This record gives sequence, C-alpha cells and structure tokens, in this order.
Amino acid sequence: MRKLSIIVILFASLAFLLTGTLPAEEAAKKEAKKEATHEYVGAKKCGICHNDVHAAWLETEHATTFGKLSAEEQKKPECVTCHITGKLADGTVIENVECEACHGPGKDFKSPKIMNKKKWAADPEKQRKMAIEAGLIHPVEKDCVRCHTKEGNANFKEFKFAERKGEVHAVKTKEEAKEEGGK
Ligand code: HEC
Ligand code: HEC
Ligand code: HEC
Ligand code: HEC
Repeated sequence: MRKLSIIVILFASLAFLLTGTLPAEEAAKKEAKKEATHEYVGAKKCGICHNDVHAAWLETEHATTFGKLSAEEQKKPECVTCHITGKLADGTVIENVECEACHGPGKDFKSPKIMNKKKWAADPEKQRKMAIEAGLIHPVEKDCVRCHTKEGNANFKEFKFAERKGEVHAVKTKEEAKEEGGK
C-alpha cells in the first residue's frame, strides 16, 4: 500500500515536471532565438533620420576608437570585442562603438512602421513599446559596463554612468522629451 502511494506521488511529480517546466524552457528558447535574429545595420542607416545625433556622435572617441588599435591588435579577439559594434548580416565587421553597440541591433526597430515620425507623435507609448519589442535598448549602466570594465581592459578608467551618459551624444532634456511625447 505504502509502495503504491510512493509510485503515485512519483508519477504526479513527473507529470508536474513535464508540464510545469517544459513550456517555460520552450518560451525561453524562443525568446533567445528571437533576440539572435536582430541584425545590425550600421550607424549611417540611423543617421539618415537622426542626423543631429549622428553628427554629435561622430565627434566622440567612440566613433574612431578602432583606429587606436595597431594592425596586429585589430586581429586579436581579446582586443576587438570592446572596440567594435558587431557584424552586418554578410559578416562585415562594424568597426568602432556605433549606435547599435548601445541601442541594440537595429534592423527590426528602425522599420518605418515603428520609427515613424507621425505615428510616434500620435502614440509615443505604443511606438516605443513596439521598438523595444523589436530590440531597441534604452541604455542603462550595465549596457556600458560590459565594455567599461577592468576585465581585459588595460586602459580602464573609473566609470560613473550618471556623469558620462551625457557625453555619448547630446541627449534631450526631460522637458524637450516631454514636448515630443514623453520618455
Ligand atoms: C526612418 C527614420 C529612422 C531611422 C532609420 C531610425 N530612426 Fe530612430 N527614431 C525615428 C523617429 C521618428 C523616432 C521618434 C522620436 C524622435 O522623433 O526622435 C525615433 C526614436 C529613436 C529613439 C528614441 C526612442 C524613445 O524611446 O524615445 C532611439 C534611441 C532611436 N530612435 C535610435 C535609432 C537607432 C539606433 C537607429 C539605427 C539602427 C535608428 N533609430 C534609425 C526615426 C528613425
Ligand atoms: C572589456 C572591454 C575592452 C577590451 C577587451 C579592450 N579594451 Fe581598449 N578600451 C576599452 C575602454 C572602455 C577604453 C576607454 C578607457 C576606459 O574608460 O576604460 C579603452 C581604451 C583603449 C585605448 C585608448 C587609451 C587612451 O588612453 O586613449 C587603446 C589604445 C586601447 N583601449 C587598446 C586596447 C587593446 C590593445 C586591447 C587588447 C589587448 C584592448 N584595448 C582591449 C575597453 C576595452
Ligand atoms: C555609447 C553609447 C551610445 C551610442 C554609441 C549612441 N547612443 Fe544614443 N543614447 C545613449 C544614451 C545613454 C541615451 C540616453 C538614454 C536615456 O536618457 O535614458 C541615448 C539616447 C538616444 C536617443 C533618444 C533621444 C534623446 O536625445 O534623448 C536617440 C534618438 C539616440 N540615442 C540615437 C542614437 C543614434 C542614432 C546613435 C548613433 C549615431 C546613438 N544614439 C549612439 C547611448 C548611446
Ligand atoms: C562596445 C564597447 C563600449 C560600450 C558598449 C560603451 N563604450 Fe564608452 N568607450 C569604449 C571605448 C573602447 C572607449 C575608448 C575610446 C578611445 O579613447 O579610443 C570608450 C570611451 C568612452 C568615453 C570617453 C569618450 C570621449 O570622447 O572622451 C565616454 C564618456 C564613454 N565611453 C561613455 C560610455 C557610456 C556612457 C556608455 C553607455 C551608455 C558607453 N560608453 C558604452 C567602449 C564602449
């Protein structure tokens, strides 16, 4: 009798395990796959619409930092990781720290259905939500610290997000952002 109830409990927990954890794992896998399919496009594509931001960014060290590596260092994976943005779909390396190093690979979120002036003005919350779902990142400290870290970075300088974030390109004040539909 005792043996039977142990078996029953075992079967019940097995059923729970099967139905309880598998769907969650499936969902996580799907999520990871979705993330992996966002492609990089390069800063020029963002600059078509964001020309002021693009011009401001070009003035920063981020825009030219790959050139600070010697020809040898430009081939070393242990150096390039933080001095490049990523790769285009055809495998071309995007040198330097471009928009998408901070804002995420942009092929999906730069779509005119999402980053559309009229639609954004009419319903910024909806458009912003769509952009985030398509991979847009509003950078926070951890998005910088993946590069601004001591590990592997012999040139490390102390990094304080709040003090440095305004240096990446001019960023709108809260008031300006609010006028255009809030942040
Ligand atoms: C077709 C024009 C267009 C392209 C291309 C484009 N954007 Fe945008 N983007 C917009 C518009 C319009 C908005 C709405 C807010 C505004 O007017 O600044 C916006 C908003 C944003 C925002 C602010 C989101 C928010 O929550 O307020 C970020 C960040 C951004 N874009 C980054 C990028 C990056 C990075 C790229 C390149 C991968 C890019 N955009 C390409 C037109 C574009
Ligand atoms: C983990 C990310 C990371 C890695 C890996 C990395 N760097 Fe850097 N590098 C940075 C950051 C961030 C800075 C800017 C300094 C700072 O604020 O930490 C920088 C700055 C530099 C500079 C400019 C220094 C200056 O004072 O102007 C050179 C040159 C450089 N790195 C070369 C290299 C070389 C060579 C390697 C490989 C041996 C390398 N980096 C690996 C993140 C990295
Ligand atoms: C080194 C990281 C970094 C790079 C590179 C970068 N950005 Fe940003 N971007 C930020 C941060 C940080 C903010 C402010 C986020 C906040 O205030 O919440 C921001 C804000 C924005 C905004 C919102 C509007 C505003 O003015 O606040 C737009 C649009 C934008 N970036 C577009 C771009 C484009 C286009 C490029 C490339 C030409 C680019 N960014 C490159 C980090 C970066
Ligand atoms: C992909 C790696 C990477 C990311 C992500 C990154 N940085 Fe950097 N950052 C660098 C490197 C490399 C340098 C060194 C540039 C040089 O001196 O050549 C640097 C330099 C800087 C500088 C000095 C630039 C100047 O013109 O004096 C500031 C400020 C800075 N980063 C802020 C930020 C902030 C804020 C973020 C996040 C919003 C960020 N960075 C994200 C790699 C990165």
